[in-house]
Amino acid sequence: MGAGIAEVCARAGLDTLVREIDAGAAERGRERIFGSFDKAVARNKMTEDERSETAARLSFTTDLGDMADRHLVIEAVIEDEPMKVDVFSTLDKVVEADDAILASNTSSIPIMKLGIATQRPEQVVGIHFFNPVPVLKLVELVTSLMTSEETVAAAHSFATDTLDKIVIKSQDRAGFIVNALLIPYILSAIRMMESGFATAEDIDHGMVEGCNHPMGPLSLADLIGLDTTLAVALSLYEEFKEPLYAPPPMLSRMVEAGLLGRKSGRGFYDYAPH
Ligand code: CAA
Repeated sequence: MGAGIAEVCARAGLDTLVREIDAGAAERGRERIFGSFDKAVARNKMTEDERSETAARLSFTTDLGDMADRHLVIEAVIEDEPMKVDVFSTLDKVVEADDAILASNTSSIPIMKLGIATQRPEQVVGIHFFNPVPVLKLVELVTSLMTSEETVAAAHSFATDTLDKIVIKSQDRAGFIVNALLIPYILSAIRMMESGFATAEDIDHGMVEGCNHPMGPLSLADLIGLDTTLAVALSLYEEFKEPLYAPPPMLSRMVEAGLLGRKSGRGFYDYAPH
């Protein structure tokens, strides 16, 4: 999702710095974003000049220390709480502006857990995007008990005025609004398939043709990533201890096997190499 977030920021006219874990990941991120620009040009949604100008606003680094001069940082590492806590703790030390906002794109981890990793929890907020970020308008704005009103107002203005997104506000509970509803639905579909009750294709066709969803729950899980789906389910289960959030064994086995959906080439469906 980091590539999508960087893309919409650069397209909105912002000087955008992307930090990736290593040079290879940075190159893959760059290819992904520039590939999306190529598609936009091919579909006459972007001119050649706009592509060059937008590309010039994007730069890449592998050093989190390069975030020192940023006014807003959006963390989008994998749904791993210790890893995110570590990133927030480092960002707190390196980002210099006193009023800089440290935001997380987490799908489910309570913002307070990230805020308390810093000395400025009042400037930590959730800005949660939806996949594919350039297409879906929604942003969940998640405020912890410590987030200040100034931070909320600035994050809201960034999402709506700068990025032209639609904001809903959520309190700071695992899964926020959308994933608290979406994940039990996806887990139910996996249980239905796991029990042999129906095929993946029939489950997905049922929801696409019967409820007019753009894609069925198993295709959607493949799009989100099965590792992310599992991580969000585990966060929800840890928070509420409700059986509806408990991941089905099939989901855990698929993630253990590296079957992560589109990004790995195989999940509930097979995908051509990209
Ligand atoms: N980047 C940029 N644009 C993209 C894109 C991407 N990755 N993927 C699709 N598009 C654009 C296409 O260019 C196309 O644009 P035009 O109509 O202007 O030509 C448009 O989106 C539709 O794409 P397609 O015709 O290729 O395919 P589609 O009509 O089947 O739509 C889809 C694809 C947008 C993914 C659609 O199926 C969809 O909205 N699915 C549901 C996605 C969803 O529910 N996402 C939320 C997941 S939950 C989450 O992200 C949060 C979390 O915490 C887990």
